[in-house]
Amino acid sequence: MTKKTWSDRFEGTLHPAITLFNASIGFDIELIEHDLNGSIAHGKMLAKTGIISPGEAEQLVQGLEQIRQEYRAGNFNPGVDQEDVHFAVERRLTELVGDVGKKLHTARSRNDQVGTDVRLYLRAQIDDIRQRLRDFQAVLLQLAETNVETLIPGYTHLQRAQPVSLAHHLLAYFQMAQRDWQRLGEIRARTNISPLGSGALAGTTFPIDRHYSAELLGFEGIYANSLDGVSDRDFAIEFLNAASLIMVHLSRLSEEMILWASQEFSFISLTDSCATGSSIMPQKKNPDVPELIRGKAGRVMGHLQGMLVLMKGLPLAYNKDLQEDKEALFDAVKTVQVSLEAMTILLDEGIVFRQERLAEAVAEDFSNATDVADYLAAKGVPFREAYNLVGKVVKTSLAAGKLLKDLTMEEWQALHPAFEDDIYQAITPQQVVAARNSYGGTGFDQVNLAIANAKAELGLS
Ligand code: ARG
Repeated sequence: MTKKTWSDRFEGTLHPAITLFNASIGFDIELIEHDLNGSIAHGKMLAKTGIISPGEAEQLVQGLEQIRQEYRAGNFNPGVDQEDVHFAVERRLTELVGDVGKKLHTARSRNDQVGTDVRLYLRAQIDDIRQRLRDFQAVLLQLAETNVETLIPGYTHLQRAQPVSLAHHLLAYFQMAQRDWQRLGEIRARTNISPLGSGALAGTTFPIDRHYSAELLGFEGIYANSLDGVSDRDFAIEFLNAASLIMVHLSRLSEEMILWASQEFSFISLTDSCATGSSIMPQKKNPDVPELIRGKAGRVMGHLQGMLVLMKGLPLAYNKDLQEDKEALFDAVKTVQVSLEAMTILLDEGIVFRQERLAEAVAEDFSNATDVADYLAAKGVPFREAYNLVGKVVKTSLAAGKLLKDLTMEEWQALHPAFEDDIYQAITPQQVVAARNSYGGTGFDQVNLAIANAKAELGLS
């Protein structure tokens, strides 16, 4: 077993099971490229401030770049006795460049180092996830554009309420994704602050230049307080919150798709590229993809809870508990990434809206009842009076097995003399939708406007 970096202070050796228990190399190797970038910036800063010579910094940078090549070629695989990625890199660096490698950790602690790495990692992942949100939005928009005139029942309490344009329904998810995209942008700004130079907790005795290393790493600012710099994981919690919201949105859409694919709704059919069969029931075609997304949402929310609880009792400054932030964060990042990708594929090629079933669905119920009341209200009948009247018509029609469109002109007139021939036109599903032309409503003019705005947002117009 290799000698521990800190072992000179110790008499005995670490129990093998504790070595394993303590080590984070099994997962924090994920940070390696960011760790190398952080170290390169730190090395350059040490030279700029005269703490090491320019030649020494040059050697450090070359050695660190060589480790990058080795890692990318699959030739850097530190074992568990290396403890973590930071020690593993430092040890390999010293093997490669000799004693000068031991100078890299001057004026630095693993505490500000790991804080730097995690922020650099998350910044890159936020950029990736925001791009995936854009792809998801683009496919929603595409589907919306071809389905402005497709109508679908709108629900409240999962009871038929008023029909809406399918595009309007899809664009609701576009808006949720838009907020997710914005939220991640805001969190990116708070993630993009450098703790490097906070040292172990109290700063350092060396004349470092924190602004310079921050600038080299593309950070927008530096932590004002070293204790806060090494202890803060707010940005990770904020990210997990945003990640949870993305998953909530994907999960709601998933739930709708699962319902829509059921025989009871039959609003969509699943194509073979995104559905699976049953091992026993030959007739089954299962919506595994949305079900999995719905399931994975729970996992991401769990990570948010986990991180909140992890932090709540920690005294300042660094505590080893903080090593537990990584697996939660990495898993949440990956889960959001694969879920967004899967949902985008599902929308793009995994589902087909069953136009004839949707047309049938919006014509076969009383979801035009509000429009009858609105019709009377527009003719001067107080709305509540009109509402009560229509309530009675619905009751008698239901009993007679009729829909509102089946009532004769005499029946309408008997109900209220204000009814005229145009009532039939006013209660067609098309008209019911078209009439809701208030800003943000489902009226076709509004939906077309929303599509134009969405296109502009994605830079597509
Ligand atoms: N592996 C550690 C982590 O992930 C790195 C920081 C360790 N610092 C320390 N003082 N033990 O948090």
